[in-house]
Amino acid sequence: MDNNSFRKWGHELVDWMADYFDQVENLPVKSPVKPGSIFKQIPDTPPKQSEDFENIIEDFKNIIIPGMTHWQSPGFMAYFTANNSYPSVLAEMLTATIGAQCMIWDTSPAATELEEMMMEWLKKIMHLPSEWHGVIQDTASTATLVAILSAREKYSDFNINNNGFKTYDNFRIYCSSETHSSIDKAVRISGVGSTNLVKIPTDAHLAILPDALEASILEDIQNNQKPICVIATIGTTGTTAMDPLEPIALLCKKYDIWLHVDGAYAGNVGILPECQDFFKGLHLADSYVFNPHKWLFVNFDCSAYFVKDKMHLIKTFNANPEYLKTNAENVHHYKDWGIQLGRRFRALKLWFVMRSFGVEKMQEKIREHIEWGKWLEIQITQNDQFELMAKRSINLVCFRYNPGKYSNLELNILNKKLMDTINASGQLYLSHTKIKEAFVIRMAPGQTYQEKHHIEAAWKLIIEISNTL
Ligand SMILES: Cc1ncc(COP(=O)(O)O)c(C=O)c1O
Repeated sequence: MDNNSFRKWGHELVDWMADYFDQVENLPVKSPVKPGSIFKQIPDTPPKQSEDFENIIEDFKNIIIPGMTHWQSPGFMAYFTANNSYPSVLAEMLTATIGAQCMIWDTSPAATELEEMMMEWLKKIMHLPSEWHGVIQDTASTATLVAILSAREKYSDFNINNNGFKTYDNFRIYCSSETHSSIDKAVRISGVGSTNLVKIPTDAHLAILPDALEASILEDIQNNQKPICVIATIGTTGTTAMDPLEPIALLCKKYDIWLHVDGAYAGNVGILPECQDFFKGLHLADSYVFNPHKWLFVNFDCSAYFVKDKMHLIKTFNANPEYLKTNAENVHHYKDWGIQLGRRFRALKLWFVMRSFGVEKMQEKIREHIEWGKWLEIQITQNDQFELMAKRSINLVCFRYNPGKYSNLELNILNKKLMDTINASGQLYLSHTKIKEAFVIRMAPGQTYQEKHHIEAAWKLIIEISNTL
C-alpha cells in the first residue's frame, strides 16, 4: 500500500466507521456464529504475494464482522461496558499513525508529559488526593499485580527483587470472597501463592466484613504470618458491592498493611459529587486503580493507577540498561512505573475525550446511566414475576425471573434459559453471576450512545421472552 491508497482507504474506512456507529444497533449484539466457523474461513497460510486491499476489506466485512460481538451497541448490557466514543476512536487513529513507544521521556516527551497532566486531571475530576501520583497501565489486572508486587517489595525491604523469596514464605494477602479473579492470578504470578490469599466473608450486601478481616489478620499474626496487602473493591464484578473503605483503611494503618483499592468499573462514579460516600477512606489507600476504558468513554486499553508513594513504585520496577540511559532529568520515565517497557500513547485519547465531552457532559452521562439502573430496579421490584437479587448501588441491576412455583434449581435452569433466549434474539446481551447458589441475571446500562428508549425496549423484551418460557 502506498501513501495515495492509504489516503483513499483511510477516507473510506472512516466512512465505514461512522456508518458502523450509526447502524450498530441493527446488528446482533452477541455474535451468533458457531465455534470454529470463523477459523474455518481463514486460509491456514499467509499469502505469498500482496493482496488487493479491497479484498481484505471485503473479508473483514463478510467474515469478521459477523463473528464480532458488538460492545458499542446500545443493546450491550452484559458484563461491564467497555465504552468508546468518537473522540477516543479518532485519538487512537492518531496514536496508531504516530506509532511511538512511550517508555522513557526522550522517546516522546509529549506522550510522557501529557500522561502526567492527564493523571492530574483525573485526580481533580475524581476527587482523589492531590499528592498521589498516577500512571496509565494497560488493565486493572496489571495494576493490581503491580500493587501486590510493590507490597511484596515493601515488606521484604526489596529483598525478594534481589534474592528471591528464600526466607519470605509467610506473606499473606486479603480480599473478599467477591473480588475479581485478577487478584487470584496476581497472587500466583507474584509468587505469594494462592494458599496465602485469604478470602474474607461478606455481609448481606456482599461487602467485606471488617471484623472478619481483622480476625483473620490477628490469627495470621499469631501464627507468625506476615500480612502484606489488603485489596478492597469499589464495585465488585458480580453485583457492584462496595467494600467499606474507611474501616478497612484504619485496619491497614493499625497493622501496617498495604491497602490497594480496585475500582475498575465503579471507580468511574468518582466523577459525581453525590457518589463520594462510596470513596470515604480512599485517601488512606496506598494504591488505587480504576478503568476509564470501562465507563469513561475512553476505549480499551486505559487503566488509571495511582500511588501514594511513587518512589516505592519506581524502586520496585526500575531497570536501567545502557541502551535506555538518558540525559533527561526531573522527568518521568514511565518504563519504571510498571511491568512493560514498551508503552502505547494512551494519554492522547484521555485528552481528546475529556476535552471533547467536558467534565459536565461525562457527569451527565454517568448520572443518566445510574438513573436507568434505578428505573430498572423499580420495574423489577414492581413486577411480581421478577425479583431483585442484590442491592443496587449504581447502574447494575441483578435480578431473576421468579413466577413463584419453582425450586431454586428449577429457577436456575429457567433463568439461564431466559438469558440465553434473550441473547440469541440479537437485540440485547446480558450476562450472569451466582449469588448463594442462585443463577442471577446482570444488566448494566451504560453504553456511550445509549438512550432511555433502549433501556425501556430491553425491559419490554425481557418481559416478552419470560412470558414465552
Ligand atoms: C472489579 C474488577 N476488577 C478488575 C477487573 C479486570 O479489569 P481489566 O480487564 O482491566 O483487567 C474487572 C473487570 O471487569 C473488575 O470488574
